[in-house]
Amino acid sequence: MGLTIALNRGRILKECLPLITAAGYAPAERFEDSRKLVFPTVDGAHRLIVMRGADVPTYVEYGAADVGIVGKDTLLEHPGAGYYERLDLGLGRCRLMTAAPRGVDISRGPLRVATKFTQSARRWFESQGRQVEIIPLSGAMEIAPLMDLADCIVDIVDTGSTLKANGLEALDTLAEISSRVIVNRAAMKLRFDEVEAFIAALEAQLP
Ligand code: PRP
Repeated sequence: MGLTIALNRGRILKECLPLITAAGYAPAERFEDSRKLVFPTVDGAHRLIVMRGADVPTYVEYGAADVGIVGKDTLLEHPGAGYYERLDLGLGRCRLMTAAPRGVDISRGPLRVATKFTQSARRWFESQGRQVEIIPLSGAMEIAPLMDLADCIVDIVDTGSTLKANGLEALDTLAEISSRVIVNRAAMKLRFDEVEAFIAALEAQLP
């Protein structure tokens, strides 16, 4: 049996699909045309499974998928011992940043930080010696300071237009983000040839 490949649906999948296709691992039918979540590759040799980003490391860690393509922001939230980060695809580039209402000084005092990236935020503020209360949200972090739920946020910044539209400014960079290929630890040994063929095929398409 071939590889089971877990893919982060949404923006990351959209950006990585041309690369996956050029590497020879295209789905047998278009993801967009189907409600299915498991797709054979065109050559019928492998399986692609499409899921939320946060589930990709879980599938790979438990070996339900051999490899996965997922954003570094997600990996930072799921630092697992069950997978290797094997390749940086350099796609889906963005930054994980702090942001606060324009002109507001958050450099002193206790802070309330609204974020989906609770682990990364906690680690970063701890490293700065800051006392913070992390307020977990699952989306629309940008409105939290406007609604006085938080003093600042930690979120993904790409063009910066979401922050701007909500009167926020980006401050510090916690991490540079891009899409990564992760590999289950056991698969790295037991399915070495297939895993390395997948990595090499993707690598060959990178600039
Ligand atoms: C991300 C992030 C911001 C936005 C930043 O959300 O949470 O809202 O992109 O992009 P910008 O700097 O170009 O405005 P995404 O659209 O990925 O959806 P999500 O909220 O599901 O993460």
